Amino acid sequence: MIKHCLFPAAGYGTRFLPATKSMPKEMMPIVNKPLIEYGVDEAIQAGVKHMGIVTGRGKHALMDHFDKNYELEHQISGTKKEALLTDVRALIQSASYTYIRQNEMKGLGHAILTGKQLVGDNPFAVVLADDLCLNLGGDTVLKQMVELYNHYRCSIVAVQRVPETETHKYGVISGSKLESGLFRVDNMVEKPAPEEAPSNMAIIGRYILTPDIFEILENTQPGKGGEIQITDALLEQAKRGCVLAYEFEGERFDCGSVEGYIEATNYAYQHVYLGKPTESAEQGQETPVPA
Ligand code: G1P
Repeated sequence: MIKHCLFPAAGYGTRFLPATKSMPKEMMPIVNKPLIEYGVDEAIQAGVKHMGIVTGRGKHALMDHFDKNYELEHQISGTKKEALLTDVRALIQSASYTYIRQNEMKGLGHAILTGKQLVGDNPFAVVLADDLCLNLGGDTVLKQMVELYNHYRCSIVAVQRVPETETHKYGVISGSKLESGLFRVDNMVEKPAPEEAPSNMAIIGRYILTPDIFEILENTQPGKGGEIQITDALLEQAKRGCVLAYEFEGERFDCGSVEGYIEATNYAYQHVYLGKPTESAEQGQETPVPA
């Protein structure tokens, strides 16, 4: 069972300056909920009980978000506005929230290693909140991965096929097919140029990691960009045993880019906030049921 989830959240979000000058990028709203809340909700739906947030300087708003605000509660108590807090109240009650500061920015692998004390010797999930994953009407992406973990008991990365011209933005895997949408990883390269990419299957911000990853990370040398890369540690883990790559069901939005953020906002406004059915749900409804 996966009971812990790490949220690396120490980055500066420079692509969204000046919005992120004094506000954590994870607090950028998609309609009326901050990005981190979508990630936490996804983790809770996957059965996670302990959220470990790896923070940095100026990230107090994250801690305040997953805590009670007595003044506000008092102010809106008994009014219609209380309903707007229902979801976040449920998230606060359903899980524990612990925080650790990453005081040097040495890459995603380093952020995950910083969270070691929060997860202990347990398998755990990692959610990068700026990759927003929605699978409306179905299991969340993390839940799909937890179910696979319960069966295979090894590290799993979520992957999505991307155009060749975009491989340089992601960790890219290659592997042999185990079943539909599931691959056993045999190679992984961090942010390769198209000619160096082992395939067009890009890792997106959802991972399940077994705890031996920490010992590997401790011995992983800085890689691409001089940073400690989780991709390099996972390749080592794949060589020693098994790492799986899973082509998930659902939509993913790169909210670390302005374009992805706007796309996510439009999608969430239509299908989450207004509750309009998605195209696939509509098509499903229109399919005549054979007599
Ligand atoms: C990180 C990882 C990369 C992965 C990506 C997913 O990169 O290093 O392998 O594909 O997250 O969002 P970042 O986007 O933090 O540069």
